[in-house]
Amino acid sequence: MDSNTLNDDRDRRVLELYERVLEIEQRLIPTGLHIFGQPPDNPELGDLLRMVASFDRPELGVRSLPDLVAEGLGFADYVMLLNESAGSEQRLRERERVEAIVREAIARFLERKRDEGIKAAVNVLSEEASVAEEQSGKVLEMLANIREQLETNHEVVGLMRALRGEYIEPGPGADIIQNPNILPTGRNTHAVNPYAVPSASAVRRAEPIANALLERHREEAGRYPETIAMVLWGIDNIKTEGEAVAQVLWLLGVTPRRDAMNRATDVDVIPLDKLGRPRIDVVLTVSGIFRDLFGATMTLLDTAVRKIASLDEPAEMNFIKRHVEQQMTETDSSFDEAAVRVFSNAAGNYGTNVNFMVLDSQWEDSSELGDLFVTRKCFAYGRDSQGRNYDGRESRKLLERALSRVEVTYQNIDTTEVGITDVDHYFEYLGGVSKAVEKQTGARPTIYLSDSLSPGAKIRTLEETVRLETRTKTLNPKWFEGMLRHGFSGVAEIEHHVTNTFGWSATANAVDDWVYDEVAATFVLDEEMLERLRSLNPHSARTLVGRLLEASGRGFWKAEQSVLEQLQEIFGSLEDKLEGVAG
Ligand code: BEZ
Ligand code: MG
Repeated sequence: MDSNTLNDDRDRRVLELYERVLEIEQRLIPTGLHIFGQPPDNPELGDLLRMVASFDRPELGVRSLPDLVAEGLGFADYVMLLNESAGSEQRLRERERVEAIVREAIARFLERKRDEGIKAAVNVLSEEASVAEEQSGKVLEMLANIREQLETNHEVVGLMRALRGEYIEPGPGADIIQNPNILPTGRNTHAVNPYAVPSASAVRRAEPIANALLERHREEAGRYPETIAMVLWGIDNIKTEGEAVAQVLWLLGVTPRRDAMNRATDVDVIPLDKLGRPRIDVVLTVSGIFRDLFGATMTLLDTAVRKIASLDEPAEMNFIKRHVEQQMTETDSSFDEAAVRVFSNAAGNYGTNVNFMVLDSQWEDSSELGDLFVTRKCFAYGRDSQGRNYDGRESRKLLERALSRVEVTYQNIDTTEVGITDVDHYFEYLGGVSKAVEKQTGARPTIYLSDSLSPGAKIRTLEETVRLETRTKTLNPKWFEGMLRHGFSGVAEIEHHVTNTFGWSATANAVDDWVYDEVAATFVLDEEMLERLRSLNPHSARTLVGRLLEASGRGFWKAEQSVLEQLQEIFGSLEDKLEGVAG
């Protein structure tokens, strides 16, 4: 290599590293728990408004603020700047300039009362980026309304009314960034009409994300995945009006068809020459909540799969057809059996219980976690060729057979508030299905998550997502100090993050050693921190230390011997404290 190539290589790597740091820096991080009835304050309010302002809202005639700034400065549109900033220093500089101006405008807005704030921000945008007042004014009006509604939340009043058995006004259930109409909070959340799912806007948003998923896999594996196992949740699909459902339809290569009453009850097939790629096979494991809310949607998904499996198309362009035919020949099954793709719990049951098994350390071999997932989720939904409902018929062999073809497992993350280490449900579902696949195929699938919140579709592997959440939450002083302000429950939150991270070791072996090294160094080996945790909540402190020892004991963490010895000693002293031995 000559020195120029060396320099180029070095510059490229520095640029990539810088882009990673930016990604961590810019992520919206919840700092502390929500306090009932209390609106967000600076700087969280500013971060929230910036995210809200990053999307076009055609229904309000509002354009994305970063796009307006980029346009005013004569740059490419903002999503392009985001996508190209890792490979080009110029794009990176332009992106930074856009973001700095947006941040400055929102800061000026927040310093003042409504009208003066709008004026100050409009001036910044006009002077720094030549954004026309007509455009920026609309964005700022929207932000001003959101700020006012956040300040007048009805949470306490709503609770008091509920306790008195009085009427509570309804409001849509959604994420504030996706739909600011959820404000004011404290109302009675209503869901969606399942026949309206997926909405036209969900269909529009789904296509680039599903394409990004396929492209990412093609980059890594050199070809399209034949089968993807996807987790669908109820609340998420309420919030997004069925974005994940629309992604499934796009992977199959169909679009929803609406009947005379505008209900999505059937699908239209996108011809292969228009689709330009093979139809991907899917296995859908849906939550009990999804099953309860979206019966019509489960039928729609099942209808789509059957329709695709019956097309007269070459097997190499229609993986569903290929697999259904293979299964019919190899296992002597009927079309109805071979085409089942929608699975959930038995009627009346919820969850996988994989989380409880992990939390209580009630497993020896990790294959038990995958087995439990299958036991809980092997109930088929949809209709057979005679139009009879399956109604959750137990179908263990069919789920196992469907999982035996899976190369990729996938789930959407659609809010910054709840990520894969915040709750135990992501590892019980996505981790659980991945472990079940591993048993059927002998190899762990590639695990992806989408980040449908950032402008520009973003797909990350599970390992990348664990690293990002560890950096932005668990190990981020901004996050854990925010939690510790809540005392007892803050320590419990930190412990939950460590345990949920461990859940990704248990189900997918997806956690780097440095994560545990740094968790131990930050929360346990730092005497002052340990003392804070111990005095605020000794139970959670003990569980946290115990979880680290479990990670090492089960072979997920190669820890230094001296570190393990210290952890053991500390664990012992925490136990003594809780049992009152050493006071
Ligand atoms: C759901 O919305 O379907 C869901 C929520 C929490 C945990 C699991 C599923
Ligand atoms: Mg490891």
